Amino acid sequence: MKHNGLAFTTNIAASRGTTYCRLGGRIERRTEEGLVAVGTHGESFMETDPPASHPAPHGATGRDGAGPGLDGLAQVANKIRDAVETVIEGKPSVVRLALTVLLAEGHLLIEDVPGVGKTMLAKALARSVDCSVRRVQFTPDLLPSDITGVSAYNQELREFEFKPGPVFANIVVGDEINRASPKTQSALLECMEERQVTVDGTTYTLEPPFMVISTQNPVEMEGTYPLPEAQRDRFTARISMGYPDPAAELEMLETHGEASPLDRLTPVAHAADVRDLIDVVRRQHVSPAVRQYAIDLVSATRTHPELRLGASPRATLHLVRAARAYAALDERDYVVPDDVQELAVPVLAHRLLPTAEAQMDRRRPEQVVADLVERLPVPSPGK
Ligand SMILES: Nc1ncnc2c1ncn2[C@@H]1O[C@H](COP(=O)(O)OP(=O)(O)OP(=O)(O)O)[C@@H](O)[C@H]1O
Ligand SMILES: [Mg+2]
Repeated sequence: MKHNGLAFTTNIAASRGTTYCRLGGRIERRTEEGLVAVGTHGESFMETDPPASHPAPHGATGRDGAGPGLDGLAQVANKIRDAVETVIEGKPSVVRLALTVLLAEGHLLIEDVPGVGKTMLAKALARSVDCSVRRVQFTPDLLPSDITGVSAYNQELREFEFKPGPVFANIVVGDEINRASPKTQSALLECMEERQVTVDGTTYTLEPPFMVISTQNPVEMEGTYPLPEAQRDRFTARISMGYPDPAAELEMLETHGEASPLDRLTPVAHAADVRDLIDVVRRQHVSPAVRQYAIDLVSATRTHPELRLGASPRATLHLVRAARAYAALDERDYVVPDDVQELAVPVLAHRLLPTAEAQMDRRRPEQVVADLVERLPVPSPGK
């Protein structure tokens, strides 16, 4: 994010010396020679959050090149958490998990019944960070190019020009992802894994932070295309919102009375702050014993008699990355087995497939992972 004195400019993609920037509602293409094209991108299926017209929020540090330490991380993370919690009532562990995934450079799948605040959580998290946010409402007729962007011929310039799609944003909210065709789903999921987009043979890099927050409703299956396992595997964690308790629901009635608290939510951190936080998380210490514990947990899912598909090595990576972020949110610069245990169900369960017998016994992968956490020996402290 650069402050150019007039408005905030966000670099959204870069390729072969060309940078695509979003300036308010416009998209600019710049090369080493300077600005070469200006365009807008506002198809009807997309909703772009309003450009930042507020003063710059205060981050963990000034932008003087020195990154924040764990204190700074906790400070900024707490601000984001508090901001989200002004909108989402009575769900502290869900908000913490969402923040963990953001700091672990992952993607989040929010799966639950209608009306429990899935979209609200995604929007609140996206809005509390001052970065580019795009929202895509998935529908069966959405095309892959509606996600990635298209090359269109520019009559004036007499050349093809790339019009970036909504995936060129720091936070992409993909609502009801299971309503899109598998082809369109896979276009998004490719970007999630590789953090780049290839259109007409040109590869564009997606600028960090890049997080996809997708929602889906597991109950209403008609007209949906459930995400295949390979695609679910790309999500660092899956969370369910769950119903709020009566006190939180009462609070919701108070706060959501006249206007939505989302409208009052202003960003409390810059995209650059989030990048700094991600750097701190990457430096978190994970002892060999805790690494081995994560591997043991994942391996146990591969040989479990109640599972016909276990967790992948990608899952092990996601588990350890998420544990680093989880520890950092506790202001610890090292991971303990408890972090891995807390995250085992949200990080692993959505990747697993139960056997037919387990399904008949109504054993869910969540229970299998929880049992493994109970059963497997935990490394002793200090190891
Ligand atoms: N725990 C909660 N705290 C605050 N508001 C909540 C909570 N749960 C639900 N709501 C409110 O309920 C309304 C519906 O939420 P939202 O649209 O996010 O639901 P959803 O889970 O995305 O539903 P759908 O699956 O139908 O899209 C919103 O106004 C939201 O603020
Ligand atoms: Mg929704």
